Amino acid sequence: MKATAPGKVILFGEHAVVYNRPALAVPVFQVYVEVEVLDSSASGVWIHAPIIDLHAELTALPADHPIGSVILKLFQRLYISQPPNMEVRISSTIPVASGLGSGAAVSAALFRALSSYLSHPLPNEQVNDLVFEIEKLHHGTPSGIDNTVITYAMPVYFIKGQPIETFYAGKPFTIVIGDTGIPAPTKESVGDVRRLWLRNSNYYEDIFDEIAQISLIARRSIESGKPELLGELMDHNHAFLQRLTVSSPELDKLVTAARDAGALGAKLSGGGRGGNMIALVNQAQAESVAEALMSAGAKRTIVTEVS
Ligand code: MEV
Repeated sequence: MKATAPGKVILFGEHAVVYNRPALAVPVFQVYVEVEVLDSSASGVWIHAPIIDLHAELTALPADHPIGSVILKLFQRLYISQPPNMEVRISSTIPVASGLGSGAAVSAALFRALSSYLSHPLPNEQVNDLVFEIEKLHHGTPSGIDNTVITYAMPVYFIKGQPIETFYAGKPFTIVIGDTGIPAPTKESVGDVRRLWLRNSNYYEDIFDEIAQISLIARRSIESGKPELLGELMDHNHAFLQRLTVSSPELDKLVTAARDAGALGAKLSGGGRGGNMIALVNQAQAESVAEALMSAGAKRTIVTEVS
């Protein structure tokens, strides 16, 4: 039994989304996790995840192990106290801790493949709830946007606690993703923003309102087939993220390099302080912007189309 889940990027609204403002995120199909569950003659639940050099039987892992805890949670949900012998193979092309949602994608693909293997395939809604529970274990106070975009594998307009809204692009547009190669300490940056907000909530509420406005206009621009308007919105959103203290010299350098190379706009994407930035480009410029990002220190780039 096989299942996959894509990576993701946040287009607009990260951090503000934790404070009930809307945010937009899209799946990135160029990177993905694949999980295969097979019958096994060896006794127990054997997990093979070469990306993190893991080859172990489930009971040998600590209870809070990021992969073990997903498998245990599924068994618990399906009331399985004695799982059959099986082999779980996990492969991924999503760089870990880069802000592309590798953890949520591993969880989503695992829940899907395992539940199908155990003849109880879970609908998206339940996969999404379970992945969110796992995200909360590892990330403190996540908004739920990452698990939602990855589980549904659709562009989402997300407001915490509200029914899921997907959106369609009236006209396709191209984004270049640049990875700083520095792990994004999302839990820490979300915690720091919370401390700032607790000290001076009026000031930060105003910033979140401005970002919310950007997300709203961005959605309208995308749906009405005017994606070229997103460039300026990205630049504004990045400036607000700088004021939230979640950018970094490396992210700022990539954002500037993308703009200098002709991108229509650029911003950090996700938790910040590391991880990724994104740039809106005309398709013809994608390669030269990607090259400029590599010259400015990016560890890798991905060109993706939102359609
Ligand atoms: C992380 O991908 C996005 C943040 O807004 C945190 C969250 O929404 O949980 C920084």
